[in-house]
Amino acid sequence: MKTIFINGSPKQRFCASAYFLFLQKLFTGGQQVTEKLRTPQDHERILAQLPGADAVVFCLPLYVDSIPSHVLRFMEKMEAFCKEKSLHLHVYVIANNGFIEGRQNEPLMQAFEHFCTRSGLTWGGGVGIGGGVMLNVTRILFLVNIGLLVLNTLLSVIRTGILFPKDAWLSFAESAGMLLYFNLGVLFFLIRMGVHIRRGTFSGKKYTRILIPSFVFILFADIFFVIISLFEGGLFRGWLAKKSELSD
Ligand SMILES: Cc1cc2nc3c(=O)[nH]c(=O)nc-3n(C[C@H](O)[C@H](O)[C@H](O)COP(=O)(O)O)c2cc1C
Repeated sequence: MKTIFINGSPKQRFCASAYFLFLQKLFTGGQQVTEKLRTPQDHERILAQLPGADAVVFCLPLYVDSIPSHVLRFMEKMEAFCKEKSLHLHVYVIANNGFIEGRQNEPLMQAFEHFCTRSGLTWGGGVGIGGGVMLNVTRILFLVNIGLLVLNTLLSVIRTGILFPKDAWLSFAESAGMLLYFNLGVLFFLIRMGVHIRRGTFSGKKYTRILIPSFVFILFADIFFVIISLFEGGLFRGWLAKKSELSD
């Protein structure tokens, strides 16, 4: 079984789509090809992978309640290509969005479903994930926790000769358990979809989110975006910046 995984995020680094794609690949198995779709230069290379594949998994962000335009351009070409070559692949989708409700990805899922109908492809269903940015941060926090554990272990060996500092391990287990809990919905639905991709069956449309209460999400999201805007050039940058004159 050959599956093509397409990362449709236009970001070069640290995109949430790469995280979810990594997880989906873990739970899918078989022969896997991973492609990045950012510019029209990527189109021919990705299309060349399609003949002989059993399934395509698109992993992409939600933009303005829909599919990012650079992915739409590719889908137009893919439609023509699949019709010309009489390909009947299964298409699965993992969409993530910044707001907390994964269900906001429903219009995007419908667009993919229509795309499959038009292209003669088999719609396999998908997973819509809310709080994608925050879930992406949890993987970075997990790596930071591993780093802290290694550092504490080294310090403990140097100071006391103890190789297994109990407090450091307990604190690591506590943080890792919490991060794992936030990701449980995503893990469950991606494992489930992995089974369907392997079997070539319909997985349905499933929606999940970071598992924290909405009021906590809003608080952390506000703090996060204040910090990001400070790093990106200051608060209210967009409002106060001099606007360029639009030509006729
Ligand atoms: C142009 C643009 C439009 C967006 N529109 C939405 C939206 O309609 N709803 C939403 O919840 N998030 C929206 N977002 C947030 C992204 O979906 C979110 O940041 C996502 O996690 C990005 O995924 P990525 O890191 O894989 O690119 C938008 C982001 C951008 C840059």
